[in-house]
Formats: sequence, C-alpha cells, structure tokens
Amino acid sequence: MPKTPLIELRNISYTYAYNTSPVLQNLNFSVSEKQIGIIGSNGCGKTTFFQIIVGLLAPDKGELLFQGKSVKNKADLRNLRKEVGFLFQSSDDQLFSPTVIEDVAFGPLNLGFSPVEAKRIAVETLAELGLSGFEDRITHRLSGGEKKLVALATILAMKPKLLLLDEPTNNLDPRTRKCLIDILQGLNLYQIIISHDWDFLNQTNSTLYQIEHGHIHRCEEDHIHVHSHIHRAGDHPHRHD
Ligand SMILES: Nc1ncnc2c1ncn2[C@@H]1O[C@H](COP(=O)(O)OP(=O)(O)OP(=O)(O)O)[C@@H](O)[C@H]1O
Ligand SMILES: [Mg+2]
Repeated sequence: MPKTPLIELRNISYTYAYNTSPVLQNLNFSVSEKQIGIIGSNGCGKTTFFQIIVGLLAPDKGELLFQGKSVKNKADLRNLRKEVGFLFQSSDDQLFSPTVIEDVAFGPLNLGFSPVEAKRIAVETLAELGLSGFEDRITHRLSGGEKKLVALATILAMKPKLLLLDEPTNNLDPRTRKCLIDILQGLNLYQIIISHDWDFLNQTNSTLYQIEHGHIHRCEEDHIHVHSHIHRAGDHPHRHD
C-alpha cells in the first residue's frame, strides 16, 4: 500500500479578488519526498501555493488533504497547523513579541504547554540554532539575518512535521546562509523550500518542482550550464557556498 502523503492538493484553483486570471489552476501536488525545492519566476504563485497549504487562503476550487483527510473546517485546520510550520518571506510579518524569548515561547504556549515548559522549550530551541544569549534581545532591533533565525526558532519550537520555507536565504550574508543550510540539513522533518537560490537548493538535496502557468511540475532533468561571475571586490578572499 502506498504511504498516505502528509499533504495533498487536488485540483486546486485560486484567483485573487479583483484579478481576472487565476494564479493557480487545477494544481495537483503531494508531499512525498522529504526535501522539496520550489522554483518559479516572480509572481508565478509560489507564496500563494504555501498560503493554500496552511489554509491562510481558501481555494476557489479543489481539495486540501492533511494525512489523507480533507481539510474542511476550523478543527481540521487547527490539526494541520500544529504540524506545518510556515517561515514567511519577510521575518517582520512573523515576529510580533517584544522579546525573542516571548516570540519563541508563544507557539508552545498556544499548544497548551505551561509557561515554565514553554520557556524551557524556547530556550532549548534557541540553543539548537546557536542563539543562546538572544532570549532577552528586543526582537525588532535584531538584524535581518538574526530575525530569520529567530523566526525559524518560533516555528521549530512547535516541533512541526513539515516546514515551509519561503525564500529563506534572501538577504543573508554567506556566513548566516551557511549556518541556515547546516541547520536545515540537520533537521529530520519534511521541508518544502521556495527559492531563487539554485546553489542553496542544490545543497539541500531537494527534489525540484516548478510553478508555471498555474500548475506545478517536477523538474526531472539536470542541465549542465556555464556560469560567468562578476562583482565588485571580487579579488578579496570570499566564498560562495
Ligand atoms: N493579496 C493579493 N491581492 C491581489 N493579487 C495578489 C495578492 N497577493 C499576490 N497577488 C498576485 O498574485 C500573483 C502571485 O503572487 P505570489 O506572491 O504568490 O507570487 P510569488 O511566486 O511568491 O512571487 P515572488 O517570487 O515575487 O515572491 C502575483 O501576480 C501577485 O501580484
Ligand atoms: Mg513569494
């Protein structure tokens, strides 16, 4: 018997209000590989696709299934959101508490852990991400890279089964980017990563899918291609991981 996929999208269509053409159209997808990369041009519907998966947007047509069961009501959605963490494209949309520890403890508190337990989980999660000492930092004063890692901590503290990452390496310097890659590679959970960063996707060993014209399809072939590479200060020692 084939294993029931964690998430399945059947014939999903979605059009934003006041837009004439659909962003997603009869899209079919199931989470069967542990690590999936999603590529596609700006505006093709990648973030919309994630929003459909976590029920932030309700499809006009089609069905969302979680562990083989159709997601139909608020209770179904709650069950799904306990297991699916969504790292937003912009960390400022994700972080809302005054301090880091409050932000990271928020998820466990919401899941029903006591304040003491929630704080313990938050401290542990921060430590796992190399963020010990960040507990009392003011969230909105963190750097972009620090915010990204703290945002990831807020999600991992809820111990999800599936992680949705929307362009996680955007605006990260090479060191933080490498740190994020190491963290993601060390996690034993399903991951779907939207990215324009081909080298990053390559390093996460993701199976690649492309969203195009409202559909999603698996990219089967590797294409050998030649790169030219130029930038200012390129003669300074640096790495591209
Ligand atoms: N709230 C909204 N109302 C109307 N149109 C929207 C809304 N959000 C997104 N769109 C449009 O839907 C399309 C898909 O947007 P989406 O954000 O899913 O694209 P994306 O593939 O994530 O793009 P990017 O690579 O730039 O992040 C775009 O044309 C966008 O302008
Ligand atoms: Mg997007």
